[in-house]
Amino acid sequence: MILDRQSRINTSDLKARLNAIGQENVPFPAEEITEFVNLMQVYEGAMYEISTKLEILDSEFQVRFAHDPIHHMERRLKSVNSILGKLERKELPLQVSSIRDNLFDVAGVRVICNYRDDVYSVSNYLSAQNDISVLRVKDYIKNPKQNGYRSLHVIYAVPVFLSSGAHYTPVEVQFRTIAMDYWASLEHALRYKTDLPDSKLSEHSQTLLDCARSLQNIETQMQNIHRDINGAPQVGEA
Ligand code: GTP
Ligand code: MG
Repeated sequence: MILDRQSRINTSDLKARLNAIGQENVPFPAEEITEFVNLMQVYEGAMYEISTKLEILDSEFQVRFAHDPIHHMERRLKSVNSILGKLERKELPLQVSSIRDNLFDVAGVRVICNYRDDVYSVSNYLSAQNDISVLRVKDYIKNPKQNGYRSLHVIYAVPVFLSSGAHYTPVEVQFRTIAMDYWASLEHALRYKTDLPDSKLSEHSQTLLDCARSLQNIETQMQNIHRDINGAPQVGEA
């Protein structure tokens, strides 16, 4: 199952929004608008290509091993406002070339797997496909962030074939288990909850860190039961 975080890009709508932004506050050059819209179409294609590859891998596992490694996927294109906001934060010029050269998460796919083993097998099989390449890996499962965040982030370069030929386009893929996703959703909600007193925020952050450790233990125990059922070797705490 794939959850689309928004509908397919509508180019006239995107143009209208960019024009409005340009007129109101951000001096986004008018001549760049067409190029921006074209670029978003390429990111969308790359995002669809990666999610189709993942669906094919998932269905192969279902057919051959009677096991669904992927629980579900989510995909989204970064919104125009988030793109412009990120360029400003990074103090980059508001130009299409800045997006192309510096932002690697305009197209994003989140792959929520049942078990930690699935995270690594699905990501390894995808990374081994020779028509795409791995640009960057951040393994926050082996090395969790200080706040307890865990996920495997891989940026792939995906060829999108247009009338002008192949355009290698980055897609950020976040692989995580159901437990990691459950945790990250609540932590994300807390991060944007700015009206709580600082004492409450730090209390909740500490509790979340404890929860991350507990979830990791539960996940290891459940992974071991699953391995046992499937005849795979057991692992200790990851
Ligand atoms: P930015 O995209 O500029 O943040 O830098 P980056 O691409 O180097 O960041 P990174 O790969 O570490 O994380 C990118 C994405 O992972 C974020 O946009 C979030 O979706 C997710 N993420 C990273 N850290 C956290 C975290 O601590 N909590 C939650 N809930 N999500 C996180
Ligand atoms: Mg990012």
